[in-house]
Amino acid sequence: MSKLQEQVSRRRTFAIISHPDAGKTTLTEKLLLFGGAIQLAGAVKARGQQRRAHSDWMKVERERGISVASSVMTFVFEENTFNLLDTPGHEDFSEDTYRTLTAVDSAVMVLDAAKGIETQTRKLFEVCRLRDMPITTFINKLDRESRDPFDLLDEIEQTLALDVTPASWPIGTGRDFLGCYDLFADRLVLIGKGSRDELPGEGVVCKGLDDPKLDELLPDHAVAKLREEVDMVRGLCPPFDMTAFLEGHLTPVYFGSAINNFGVRELLYGLSERAPVPRAQPTASRVIEPDEDKVSAFVFKIQANMDPKHRDRIAFVRICSGQFKRGMKLKHVRSDKVMTVHNPVLFLAQDRELAEEAWPGDIVGIPNHGALRIGDGLSEGEDLRFTGIPSFAPEYLQTARPDDPLRAKHLGRALQQLAEEGAASVFKPIVGADWIVGAVGPLQFEVMADRIRTEFDVPVHFEPTSLYTARWVEADDAQALKKFGDGNQAAIANDHDDAMVFLARNAWHLDRAAEDWPDVRFLKTREHVE
Ligand code: G4P
Repeated sequence: MSKLQEQVSRRRTFAIISHPDAGKTTLTEKLLLFGGAIQLAGAVKARGQQRRAHSDWMKVERERGISVASSVMTFVFEENTFNLLDTPGHEDFSEDTYRTLTAVDSAVMVLDAAKGIETQTRKLFEVCRLRDMPITTFINKLDRESRDPFDLLDEIEQTLALDVTPASWPIGTGRDFLGCYDLFADRLVLIGKGSRDELPGEGVVCKGLDDPKLDELLPDHAVAKLREEVDMVRGLCPPFDMTAFLEGHLTPVYFGSAINNFGVRELLYGLSERAPVPRAQPTASRVIEPDEDKVSAFVFKIQANMDPKHRDRIAFVRICSGQFKRGMKLKHVRSDKVMTVHNPVLFLAQDRELAEEAWPGDIVGIPNHGALRIGDGLSEGEDLRFTGIPSFAPEYLQTARPDDPLRAKHLGRALQQLAEEGAASVFKPIVGADWIVGAVGPLQFEVMADRIRTEFDVPVHFEPTSLYTARWVEADDAQALKKFGDGNQAAIANDHDDAMVFLARNAWHLDRAAEDWPDVRFLKTREHVE
């Protein structure tokens, strides 16, 4: 095995998907804890005040839709390097979440044991499904009153049309929660009576469920129930099948209690052993294998620097192939220019450090002044156009107006930058002087107004429009597209990349246009490729 292949085989790049409050933040913290990237929980607790301050900061970041510090967290467990990509929790930033999911190889789905599948879990799952992404499930909060585990498994199977195989089985729930039996490794792991600051042990190795050790370690009624339930669940669920998992048809399910550090180690072992290594990456011309010698990478996220006075941005780049080295010259495919990457950044838990090297599956941050945009490809010379990184048609459209009309030009520049970052869609109608700004959630407008005021010094307000939706328009025949544009001038705008967009006044207007112009395609998403 070459060094490159070895490094590829050690990478696990994943994201956590969940409904708010299911425990994503807690689980993230615990994964970092087990990965040695942060201090013991005790230390975290002792620094209560600081922690509060930190989480308040996170809240601000989140409200503003930015979280550079925790966007990517890298840690090592069992010789494998894990890259955990954070996805913004708030529904309004789901577009960012979708793009982040294009940069991972698998996802951990966290469910609250009392609630099961919730709306946001479902939405995010659908995005994963589009890409047949392998999903590992973690059912959290078993220390609270929970739904019946059979019921939860059934719900996953029924509502997500996903086969389930329990990887562990809970022994009791709520106040009676004793621990789990690890069905893959045949270990009994008990929760212990200690505080939340203790890490649970590795558990007791058993020779299957009939092992008399279980009778010694568990109360009679619990062991009888465990045997009966596992017997039943094994009859109901298919055995674990690696191919079905990697194809996104089957999910192994772990039970645990993140806040008590419980079930987290088993989950990490599971990801170490089963989660996929960096995948082959599709481009318009060919598929890139991760163990190809030449470096290739794509930008999936842009973030303005935390310092509002600074114009720098960080492009989050996923390495797809080859060994990346600091100082490397890479071709920026869109502009056809060579760029030297002097200061790539690696993200280690809360810290950032210079990346001397990076491997497929790794995420590096490249500071830049706006040259890099979402979807851009970097290569060692080849014209690679990465596919599958979408823009979404916004569901809310508003007009942006500067409080001071003389600052209209500055506003235009600010909006252009926000659009390039992927923070919003910005449309310039070909008729009139207004800017139309599109968002996938209404909260985004507040965040934008705040950023435009503080970062660009342009007080701005957003006003409702009578527009219904926006569609990117395309046609095979350039003449047909031009004709369509000329015939609908009042409804035509350009996005920040000068792509043509149709702004529909209502559903009927859109349907009518589609009927009248059969040669024109009206697209809800636009891929970030030229
Ligand atoms: P999120 O990122 O998915 O939104 O969830 P987060 O981790 O913030 O957890 C949401 C709430 O659930 C938090 O409580 C957290 O402490 C709690 N929680 C997480 N995991 C467990 C678990 O295994 N068992 C129990 N019982 N609770 C859990 P909070 O009261 O909202 O916040 P906090 O004051 O505890 O920080």
